[in-house]
Amino acid sequence: MEFTRTLGRSGIQVSALGFGCWAIGGEWQDRDGQPLGWGKVDDEESVRAIRRALDLGVTFFDTADVYGTGHSELVLGRALGRRRDDVVVATKWGNLFDPGTRTLTGSDDSPEHLRRALTASLRRLGTDHVDLYQLHIADADPGRAARLRDACEELVAEGLIRAYAWSTDDPARAAVFAEGPHCAAVQHALNVLDDAPEMLQLCEEADLASVNRSPLAMGLLTGKHRSGRPLEAGDIRSRPPAWLRGFGDGRGADPEWLARVDALRDVLTSGGRTLAQGALAWLWGRSPRTVPIPGFRSVAQAEENAGALAKGPLTGQQMAEVEHILQRKRQETGAA
Ligand SMILES: NC(=O)c1ccc[n+]([C@@H]2O[C@H](COP(=O)([O-])OP(=O)(O)OC[C@H]3O[C@@H](n4cnc5c(N)ncnc54)[C@H](OP(=O)(O)O)[C@@H]3O)[C@@H](O)[C@H]2O)c1
Repeated sequence: MEFTRTLGRSGIQVSALGFGCWAIGGEWQDRDGQPLGWGKVDDEESVRAIRRALDLGVTFFDTADVYGTGHSELVLGRALGRRRDDVVVATKWGNLFDPGTRTLTGSDDSPEHLRRALTASLRRLGTDHVDLYQLHIADADPGRAARLRDACEELVAEGLIRAYAWSTDDPARAAVFAEGPHCAAVQHALNVLDDAPEMLQLCEEADLASVNRSPLAMGLLTGKHRSGRPLEAGDIRSRPPAWLRGFGDGRGADPEWLARVDALRDVLTSGGRTLAQGALAWLWGRSPRTVPIPGFRSVAQAEENAGALAKGPLTGQQMAEVEHILQRKRQETGAA
């Protein structure tokens, strides 16, 4: 049986797993040369990975106009081709960028920019509507956000988007968007190493889906990263900005995070799951509203991640075991 979820009050059905398309945008940076992509990518491999995901029952794809300064949307649009209407496409707006130099140049929270950005995303994606349109300025002024929410309602009425969301880790900001009738979700960080109880409570109260970014803790929950193993220069994890957690100062993964991954390994890999599949299963066990959107860079990763669908959520007992292990680790390290 297919494992699906509903995007909150919109009624839009998606596979319980979405595919996150940040990494497949390739390299880009900010004006100071800070890498914002995940290093080099092979577009043909990205297209093959998306098509494999479609064949394996994935019907939800998350991208943003700024990923690879437009490149991720172009690759996703090309990969979906005639299958566009079989899937739910989420993208984001709010950032300004220069595709010529692949540089992030700023942000714009005006309703005028919202319309311009949507027109450009529709062109790159090769579609006439976006299913879930998300504000990408996580810390935008909540006082000004009501205008954007109202502008999104107009776009719904015009048939250009079906629903909208704010991509933010702040429940108070998410609540501003939640007041709009066609707000369907919030996109926020959530994984077994980084819980978000207040946001999940808001999702419950406001009937929103919880779309989970960084469900694999940016690769840490796959078990392949080691401390002291440096990352490629164009990879954001090699020079982690302040908000990026788990990769210390860029000299490989943070040992404290790795110790927690090791402690969780047995419970997450029970039932024949790989570690990555166990991390996704924890998210499904955490709430019936969660829709993890792991990133991918290859067909092999697409197959492994989509393979988690058939195995479903962790059981209540396994979820309790995870809590017990993390509690013990917190006591050992004195972490809050
Ligand atoms: N709204 C926002 O501001 C925001 C912020 C972050 C992310 N997002 C969205 O959330 C999506 C996912 O989050 P994320 O990109 O932060 O990280 P993630 O999903 O936690 O980690 C994805 C990375 O882990 C590695 N990986 C994935 N599957 C694997 C597997 N089966 N085996 C081994 N390695 C695997 C890949 O990188 P390597 O192979 O290079 O290790 C991949 O790029 C993004 O693509 C994007 O759509 C949104």
